[in-house]
Amino acid sequence: MMNDVLKGLGFTEGRVIETLLVTESEEGFNCAPIGVWSEGGYLWSKVHEDSESYKNLSVESRCTANIVDVGMLVEGLFTDLDITGGVVDGAGAVLRLAVVGFSVDGEWGLVKYSVDGVEVFDSCARGLCRAELCLLESAVHASRVGLDNSHVGFIGHYREIIDKTGGRSEVELIDRLISNYGLDVE
Ligand SMILES: Cc1cc2nc3c(=O)[nH]c(=O)nc-3n(C[C@H](O)[C@H](O)[C@H](O)COP(=O)(O)O)c2cc1C
Repeated sequence: MMNDVLKGLGFTEGRVIETLLVTESEEGFNCAPIGVWSEGGYLWSKVHEDSESYKNLSVESRCTANIVDVGMLVEGLFTDLDITGGVVDGAGAVLRLAVVGFSVDGEWGLVKYSVDGVEVFDSCARGLCRAELCLLESAVHASRVGLDNSHVGFIGHYREIIDKTGGRSEVELIDRLISNYGLDVE
């Protein structure tokens, strides 16, 4: 049941969803755009050691991943949004996460979560995945009437992001797009 809800929000295996992750410290809530993905029955994120999120997640046992649109995600990077109980005002859904593992890999912390609960405020809520945006942009480039090397170069760059952040459907589609247009992408 919970898995179906997560899938509905976009969390199919390996697909990185860009969330507003709300962590907590003695100073209060902290909110930052952080990618979260599902793998092997757990959710995961990678946080940079220089961030507040890293500091909080290495000591706190809970956090809240907010499913938001592009505008809120970007605003969350540099604006103090209203947060109540971990929920960012305007979020379409939230995942209540328990931190069940934190391992250090160079300058990154790999955080492992189990899902304590999901609250859906907007039945149309769906998490943002960069692979989807890159796939769309690749399709625009590939379909240009005056397709040239610079368009093909962009598609190569987008494919790297799709490989990193996409699920099976985006990875398959970028390969089909490249082969359909006979593109020489590195
Ligand atoms: C869409 C988006 C996704 C991001 N994903 C991550 C991420 O997965 N891990 C990370 O450490 N930083 C990520 N960042 C950068 C952090 O959000 C940024 O460094 C932020 O300032 C950290 O805030 P904090 O110090 O309050 O934790 C992302 C930024 C954007 C815009």
